[in-house]
Amino acid sequence: MPFIVTEPCIQCKYTDCVNVCPMDCFVEGPNFLAIDPDGCIDCSVCVAECPVNAIVNAAEASEAQRPYIALNASLAKHPLWKPITRSRAPLAEHAAWRGVAAKAHLLQLPPAAEGT
Ligand code: SF4
Ligand code: F3S
Repeated sequence: MPFIVTEPCIQCKYTDCVNVCPMDCFVEGPNFLAIDPDGCIDCSVCVAECPVNAIVNAAEASEAQRPYIALNASLAKHPLWKPITRSRAPLAEHAAWRGVAAKAHLLQLPPAAEGT
């Protein structure tokens, strides 16, 4: 199964992950990144790059992380979420948010992906 981005990415978006992906799988939204499952080759090199451990193998996702499997797939195909292949500065409030466990309600979804 592909790798997925999960809750710790929300409001942080460090983007270190995108520099190492050999398949350019990452797409970007306002406060989260997603991985296109159709491009991901399960190489796992992005996992160690994330400072907040947001990237996991979908096959090893916890109960709480499981909704992110469909969410990554859905966001990866959304026309408003664009590919990102070079890292940039994290979100301004990243330091304040990186230790916050419950951030899912803050995820800014595009209209068609709501409810996924
Ligand atoms: Fe890219 Fe590999 Fe991470 Fe998949 S596991 S998103 S191919 S770096
Ligand atoms: Fe998000 Fe971690 Fe990448 S915070 S943008 S998954 S480096």
